[in-house]
Order: sequence, then C-alpha cells, then structure tokens
Amino acid sequence: MEIVVKENYEALSNYVAQCIQEQIKDKPSSVIGLATGSTPVGTYKELVEAYKRKEVDFSKISTINLDEYIGLSNDHPQSYHVFMQEQLFNHVNIEEQNTHIPNGVATNLEEECQRYEQVIDTIGPVDLQILGIGVNGHIGFNEPGSSFTGKTSIVPLTESTIEANARFFDTMEEVPREAVTMGIQSILKSKKIILLASGESKAPVIEQLLSGEVTEALPASVLHQHEDVTIVVDPLAYQLVNK
Ligand code: GLP
Repeated sequence: MEIVVKENYEALSNYVAQCIQEQIKDKPSSVIGLATGSTPVGTYKELVEAYKRKEVDFSKISTINLDEYIGLSNDHPQSYHVFMQEQLFNHVNIEEQNTHIPNGVATNLEEECQRYEQVIDTIGPVDLQILGIGVNGHIGFNEPGSSFTGKTSIVPLTESTIEANARFFDTMEEVPREAVTMGIQSILKSKKIILLASGESKAPVIEQLLSGEVTEALPASVLHQHEDVTIVVDPLAYQLVNK
C-alpha cells in the first residue's frame, strides 16, 4: 500500500485527476470505477477542466459506480445518478451507455444486484477504482461488519452514515436507509485502487486504516490484501498518523 500526502485538497484532487488521465492515456478504453461523496468532487472538477483544455478524451472509456441509494429515483437531486451527471458526465464526452450505476428503484432489487455484478464481470475488470472512505471505514456502502467476500447487494446504512448523509437532505426522514452497493469482493477485482481522504473528520479512520490491522470491523482495511492500492490524503486527514 502506497501513501501519498498532498499539501491540501486542491493538490490531492489534481493528483488523483492526473492518475485518471494517465490511465486513460495508457488505455483509451479503460474501465474506471467511480465514487461519490464530497471528496472526489475536486477530482471531477479537475477532469472537466482537463477535458476543456483537450488534455483527455473520455469517448472510449466505461465507468462503473460503486453504489446508489435505494428509493431515490434516478432523477432525484440527491441520487448518485444526478451527482455523477452534474459533477462529470454532463461536462465531458463520455458515452451515456458506457456509464453504469446501480438502479436504486428497480422493481426487483435482488435481480438488479445480480445484473450489476454481471456488468462488472462483463465490461470489467475495472482498471482503476476510485474510492472515498466513510468516517466509520466504509467503502462504497459496505458498512463495518460487511463480509470481505460480498458481491453487489442491498445493504442497510448505519446510523453514523445516515447522520453523515443528512446534510444533503431537508429532513432526517428523507435520508435513505438502504443502498445497493458493489461488494468488497467486487471492489477487490479492480486492477488498481486509489482511495482518497481529506479533512480532519477522516483523521481517526485514516489512522486506523494505516495501523495495518485487517478486520471486517473496518471495511477499508481489506485494501491491505490488494496488491496495487494508493491512499491519497491531505495533512488534515493524515494528522493522527505516527503521532
Ligand atoms: C458515501 C459514499 C462513499 C463515500 C462516502 C464518504 O457514503 N457511498 O462511497 O466514500 O460517502 O463521503 P465523503 O467523501 O463526502 O466524506
């Protein structure tokens, strides 16, 4: 596991965007695994700017998103579908049919999970997976206690995640309680993984992650078992390491 500490959020975002651009340059038909949450917003902004400068071509890539809330229609402002359109897809030359996000309002959600896992296996493996991390160590929506052998499934969100997400909704009642997420095993199929964390709220979880213990109580710790993982942090997220 490689650790990269960048001087601030802007530098972190720029670094991760560069990694994605290099991946696409090396292999124009790359499959990129995408994450939501506030942390990768800066990275997507950098990618849009790079596209405007004609430095990157998304026309042949495919994307696979990690997760989606259950019960939010694909045009709900807080859905991850709308998030991805607003942050990236609407601003670059990516083909809509090459973008994949679980459907959180499928009539048969079990079937949707199987379909999504098949998408990962058919167009994958993911060449470069981008991950954020929850304050409780979740990746995608794989909450503490999730099996390391899990595939795409329907998962309940923990109170800590529901509280963390509440800032995006008008009332607590509107905050989704469940999600469809790629499982930990599905994520580990990726050839290369970059996890990014920024800000002091992530400091305790980054300290725990870098302590090296591998436990289902900290889903992100499974990344120690993958051979090509880079953790990119800013000094605020890194402040408790080696203290
Ligand atoms: C959500 C997403 C995760 C993301 C996490 C952290 O739970 N499902 O993929 O990593 O939020 O979000 P943020 O970057 O806003 O802290």
